[in-house]
Amino acid sequence: MKIAVAKGDGIGPEIMDAVLSIFAANKVDLEYEFVEMGKWVFDKGYSNGMTPEAQAAIERLGILFKGPMETPKGKGVKSVNVTARKTWNTYANKRTFQTLHGVDTVFSKAGIPIDITIVRENIEDTYGGIEHMLTHDVALSRRFITRPGSMQVIRYAFDMAQKKGARRITCGHKANIMKLTDGLFLECFYEVAKEYPNLNADDKIVDDLAMQLVVKPDQFDVVVMTNLQGDIISDLCAGLVGGLGFAPSANIGDHISIFEAVHGTAPDIAGKNIANPTALLLSGLGMLRHLGFRENAAVIENALLYTLEQGIHTGDFGDKSKPAVNTTEFAQAIIANFGRVPEQGMRPMMENTVENLAVCRLEKNTMMVSKETSEEKIVGIDVFIESSENHDAVARKCLQHTTDLFKLVTISNRGTQVWPKGSVFTNLVNQYTCRFESVGDQGVTQIDLLELQKRLTQDFKICSTELLNEWDGKRSYSLAQGQ
Ligand code: NAI
Repeated sequence: MKIAVAKGDGIGPEIMDAVLSIFAANKVDLEYEFVEMGKWVFDKGYSNGMTPEAQAAIERLGILFKGPMETPKGKGVKSVNVTARKTWNTYANKRTFQTLHGVDTVFSKAGIPIDITIVRENIEDTYGGIEHMLTHDVALSRRFITRPGSMQVIRYAFDMAQKKGARRITCGHKANIMKLTDGLFLECFYEVAKEYPNLNADDKIVDDLAMQLVVKPDQFDVVVMTNLQGDIISDLCAGLVGGLGFAPSANIGDHISIFEAVHGTAPDIAGKNIANPTALLLSGLGMLRHLGFRENAAVIENALLYTLEQGIHTGDFGDKSKPAVNTTEFAQAIIANFGRVPEQGMRPMMENTVENLAVCRLEKNTMMVSKETSEEKIVGIDVFIESSENHDAVARKCLQHTTDLFKLVTISNRGTQVWPKGSVFTNLVNQYTCRFESVGDQGVTQIDLLELQKRLTQDFKICSTELLNEWDGKRSYSLAQGQ
């Protein structure tokens, strides 16, 4: 079996060499094809941070094991790490956080064991990076949450939880505020939950989840979340078990999967051979299990846990009264401990977490459509305009342009209604959203909307628009605060 390996930037090559030396010593039967990705590939002029040969190799082999990579600042290029996850549709980011003996934390000292797996949606949300300045004062970010994308990651989370023998699976969300986006994610969660009656499925609002994780982390098992909230909560969980040096990550897709540590290139310690390779090793062990090398993974993980229990540590953690070892010595200590079993937290030989390996050639992109509507109607439009005038003046001008097809129903500023009713205490910025709805039940056409916008441009600069749709008689847009 062959996989693609990219050593990365900064401490990447040091920790990757350490991990591969452990794999070699344990006779892991894998071949490696080293590919060119990272800062120096950007510097060579490849704007996506990888050579075409690297892309071809990863698409052929289906597995990428990677070190951390730096995104050059001020060059207008996007992170190669994010590009890789999005290009290859690795829709589930799985991060496992477990108490490690020898790694002192508030919870380990209190005897509270932690074993939490966060599954974070990896493609959508604000990570599309679709952002625009509407005015000099107002920036807008688009947040995509889709039904097929949510179903993919939630199905993965339930399936993984079942194989892992989890007792509970929790959806973290903010559906009380973002009723359509997070509401859709939560709806998908409970739809999938019906297929797994043996799993105890529940949900928690993300702020409460953050507090509960800090106060009583041992109550959680598997948590599935949207991208941004999952990003923040997974770093919180890394802190619970000792920091980023112990946080592995797997980016799982149907065809290509990427295994990497959560931490970055640590430029402050790069080239010194003092970095902690544990997070990359744990990511590599997740990869070995994914590929079916369960025995190798168990032997190496038990040796790692035994080594940590012995108090052997790199400079970033552990008992400071004991001298730290360097990266190479840490790897050698693990190799010397093959066959040893930790006193606590022994990893079983046969964990039933092997994923379905489906490396295949794709001829074309997959279109994911999950739900068709029977009756569709356009019932209006939100027009985002730039104006420094008072809302009453904006309303007067808007009303001049509404014909018998439309009525002006509300004007909001930063999402809060200011017309027809509002409060003088609401501070304003120079961008309003004016909502026009159709008069009567028959709806309007796109041409009607364009005619309306054409008239509005006589008085305003239009920054953006959104259609107001009704699907099967249900509103597909939110109300303004106070509407
Ligand atoms: P960082 O994770 O590289 O470093 C934060 C702190 O943690 C530093 O003090 C560093 O020395 C320490 N640290 C991190 N990993 C360590 C390890 N294995 N052993 C010992 N100490 C460790 O985060 P930072 O400084 O924000 O980012 C540096 C670069 O890494 C940036 O260019 C960033 O874009 C990139 N990055 C790449 C990621 C990836 O490839 N997936 C993820 C995060 C950041």
